[in-house]
Amino acid sequence: MSYAAITGWGKCLPPAVLANSDFETLMDTTDEWITGRTGIKERRIAAAETSDMAAVAGRRALAAAGITPDDVDLVILATCTPDRLVPGAAAMVQEKIGAGSAGAVDVNAACSGFIYALVMGTALVRAGSADRVLVIGAEKLSTWIDLRDRSTAVLFGDGAGAVVLEPSDVPAGLMASELGSDGALADILTVKGSGTEALVDGTPGDTRIEMEGREVFKRAVTTMGDAAARVLAAAGLDLADVDLLVPHQANARIIDATARRLGLGEERVFTNIGSYGNTSAASIPIALTEAVEQGRIAPGSDIVLVAFGGGLTWAAGLLRWGERIEPVGESSAMLPSSTESGMELIRRRQRAREASWDG
Ligand code: UT7
Repeated sequence: MSYAAITGWGKCLPPAVLANSDFETLMDTTDEWITGRTGIKERRIAAAETSDMAAVAGRRALAAAGITPDDVDLVILATCTPDRLVPGAAAMVQEKIGAGSAGAVDVNAACSGFIYALVMGTALVRAGSADRVLVIGAEKLSTWIDLRDRSTAVLFGDGAGAVVLEPSDVPAGLMASELGSDGALADILTVKGSGTEALVDGTPGDTRIEMEGREVFKRAVTTMGDAAARVLAAAGLDLADVDLLVPHQANARIIDATARRLGLGEERVFTNIGSYGNTSAASIPIALTEAVEQGRIAPGSDIVLVAFGGGLTWAAGLLRWGERIEPVGESSAMLPSSTESGMELIRRRQRAREASWDG
């Protein structure tokens, strides 16, 4: 049987930082509240577009795998913040990285998107339909942050992460997975006004993240813990076999509660939410990349991935790492340069959004 191993990994974080102390000057909030309720200390704000971050993370992942863009058969980009609705941002990434005439498709399952994309890429490699698949999670959520809503504005950030999937004869890659959704709860975490509904009962351009935080929180904890336990059982493993939990980074308290529900100590949980906030579909590939870089993943490590987000959607996977934890090569790919600070970018974005609402 053929498997689909991860052979390359990479990330792209835009350089502009927006710290909690910056938010103290923008709205009625404090570093103490944000840190205590979410674990977030700062986040990154992109000057470039989603496809730019995705392309840089993608090139870094290809270099780590030791393959060239020409080798890629398919680009799957998990994002809920594409540059445009049409064309999909994956096609822009295909062009930006120079991936010949590779297939390109966007997947939108909000914060669960990367695991959805990984499951799809894995299935195609295992079926022999594609040999090398570049799976990316990239988001520019700062686009939809509304500075008038302190309960959501402080949570989100921008970034991208990517992995390369290649066929493997030895068991590696996703060993079990679960994808789920509950569309009845669409309205408790949503960005309205950007799709076809906008012309029916919304204001075109009136788009911002809206969330019933407490409801989402409760459901995230139970669903993530239970889905993770089910994929572990489906893979024929138990808790003692888990080397690392790499959960979606939405809130440190959700991560802690999920780990507790599973019975995992913090030494087996990867967390980087303090530095980046919630980057939705990008959070797991960024975390995976940092886990490898920091020596938290060894050859053959068994890793539980789990995510929860808008839809509502959820996804979990048992990922067995392959033989190699050192990148084959490095890429010099960089984002287009920008000198704007996080504060300048977020203020400019808010002004543009409010002008579009007023207009
Ligand atoms: O990635 C997709 C999934 N997303 C998530 O999983 C997010 C899930 N939800 C959460 O992480 C949390 O619910 C939040 C971080 C969004 C909110 O934390 P909470 O502990 O659930 O707070 P809350 O919404 O119950 O609000 C408590 C208080 C309220 O004040 P009152 O009504 O008690 O006076 C809020 O107005 O905290 C207030 N508050 C803030 N205060 C200072 C809300 N946001 C802020 C803020 N600064 N930024």
